[in-house]
Amino acid sequence: MPKIIITGGAGYIGSHTAVEFLSCGYEVVIIDNLSNSAVEVLSGIEKIAGKKPSFYKTDITDLTALEKVFALHSDSVALVHFAAFKAVGESVQKPLMYYHNNLMGLVNILKLMQDFKMTNFVFSSSCTVYGQPKDLPVTELSPVVKPESPYGNTKKIGEEIITDTLASDENLKAILLRYFNPIGAHPSALIGELPLGIPNNLMPFITQTAIGLRDKLKVFGNDYNTPDGTAIRDYINVVDLAKAHVVAVERLISEKNKKNCEIFNIGTGKGVSVLEVINAFEKSTGVKLNYEIAERRPGDVEKVWADTSLANKTLGWFATETLENTVKSAWEWEKSLRSK
Ligand code: NAD
Ligand code: WQD
Repeated sequence: MPKIIITGGAGYIGSHTAVEFLSCGYEVVIIDNLSNSAVEVLSGIEKIAGKKPSFYKTDITDLTALEKVFALHSDSVALVHFAAFKAVGESVQKPLMYYHNNLMGLVNILKLMQDFKMTNFVFSSSCTVYGQPKDLPVTELSPVVKPESPYGNTKKIGEEIITDTLASDENLKAILLRYFNPIGAHPSALIGELPLGIPNNLMPFITQTAIGLRDKLKVFGNDYNTPDGTAIRDYINVVDLAKAHVVAVERLISEKNKKNCEIFNIGTGKGVSVLEVINAFEKSTGVKLNYEIAERRPGDVEKVWADTSLANKTLGWFATETLENTVKSAWEWEKSLRSK
């Protein structure tokens, strides 16, 4: 069985990706320090896939500890790198913590991939690198701007670190996936998003409000230049997103890549407003949501959605899930979490 290393594999997107790789016949090695995840996620992965990933509770900023894991698994066919901190607001408060974790972690991973002569690398990037694009939908050729937050900047600088490293290394190949807004959970409701404390993101705030953990959802702004006045995003189902990683790894392994560093937008290609997400939630779950219109959230972009034609044509990858099914899956996950 081909082996894959997944850093951050106990996290939200990483756990769904581990399931997809296991289901496609790969052996999975997860490296995660559980700083934003729980060890129980591993049994969720095993229940769904019927196979257990190997697990190392290791901090990727600890080069010595990380090297020991690489020494055992350098025969892996690829490494998919999710491990990073991701809270935008926290990154504004603690920029050095974000630069240290996200960039030192990435540098260590790339160094060990070189030391152990590993070839294939997939990186979690973000649509945040586009800021507020002038033209929509956003293609991979749209300008990359200085992001609003230190978190966003770690993605922009991360992409640059990878590009520079690959320029001087003929052995290493990478695919950078720029995710739009991942939401939803596995249809089994055995794994999903586990936000710590009060969620910043829309979807977990909706499900926590619906279940009564939060009093009211605030819709941040209804005076944007959009059809209903609320901000627009491209909400991508997390299982669809997870599958993009398998396709990306298989492209690298089978040497179908055209360049040693390729970039793909991973979204649905559809822009959806905050009110449309709320309506889809109410319609698909039958649960009425308590919400009110509030001030705009500082730093938010007005509208962004992906042109996914490159991923569709080149990777043969398509987003398949409807918004209704996706928000329903988030609700099923929230209910299963609270029933434990
Ligand atoms: P997550 O926090 O659920 O998962 C990240 C995992 O990495 C966690 O399990 C955490 O414990 C682990 N981790 C963090 N620092 C680590 C370290 N130093 N050593 C080892 N493990 C460490 O986040 P997610 O939503 O699954 O995001 C995964 C990746 O995708 C991140 O790189 C994130 O920046 C990127 N991304 C996320 C989104 C999103 O909205 N969720 C959008 C675009 C890009
Ligand atoms: C979505 C929409 C909010 C909460 C963030 C990061 C980005 C990327 C994805 C990683 C916006 C509105 C939200 C609430 C609301 N992550 N909203 N009430 O801001 O698009 O992107 O996650 O790379 O980098 O910045 O996602 O889920 O926070 O917000 O009205 O309580 O929902 O204003 O329009 P965002 P989000």
